[in-house]
Amino acid sequence: MRIERFSSKEELYTRAVAIIMEAKNNGAITFGLATGGTMEPLYAKICKTDIDFSHCMSFNLDEYVGLEATHKQSYAYYMNKHLLNQKPFLASYLPDGLAVDPLVETARYEGLLQQYPLDFQLLGIGQNGHIGFNEPGTSFASLTHLVTLEESTRQANARFFSSIDEVPTQAYTMGIQSIMRAKCILLLAVGEAKCEVLERLLASDYTEDVPATALSKHPNVMVLTDLQEEENKL
Ligand code: F6R
Repeated sequence: MRIERFSSKEELYTRAVAIIMEAKNNGAITFGLATGGTMEPLYAKICKTDIDFSHCMSFNLDEYVGLEATHKQSYAYYMNKHLLNQKPFLASYLPDGLAVDPLVETARYEGLLQQYPLDFQLLGIGQNGHIGFNEPGTSFASLTHLVTLEESTRQANARFFSSIDEVPTQAYTMGIQSIMRAKCILLLAVGEAKCEVLERLLASDYTEDVPATALSKHPNVMVLTDLQEEENKL
């Protein structure tokens, strides 16, 4: 896991865009995408470039259960708003939050991921160490599955809803194994709220208690952060 630290968010996002462009120029076709506050400035910056994804495919990490794609807090809506309307891909996929049968839906989505192996995966990180919606304790062997969200995750995401009661309790997510199959992974840990979890990620051994530590066994992971090492803090 290579880590690059930046003194400003601006530099960090500029670097992230450059990494994505380089991956694409080197032939990446299939992109695993993330949502959340961390990704908004990244997508805004990408939209200002002339990058063309029209021959690429995108696969989102996760989607809330129970929200239709037109719901403003669904990840389908988020992706259209922040990236896909401006930068369309040849095809874009997310789990279907309204799927009738979770087992059929998770098998369908995992099947797509196996049919189109990911060249590049973008990740944020939750304060509890989750990647996608793989909460602490998730098996590192997990494939796409249905999860019950931790209360802390629902609280962290409540800022996007009018009240916590509206935050769905379940979601579909790529599993840790699904994520680990990507050829190249870029994780962004941005903002003070991620300080503790980043330290835990860098200090912890490979443990399912901190899902992001699975990445320590991946050969090509880059972490970008605007957080400084403890000893360098003023
Ligand atoms: C979202 C996702 C999550 C987020 C994480 C951080 O698709 O997969 O793992 O990356 O919850 O969210 P923010 O960026 O809002 O802090």
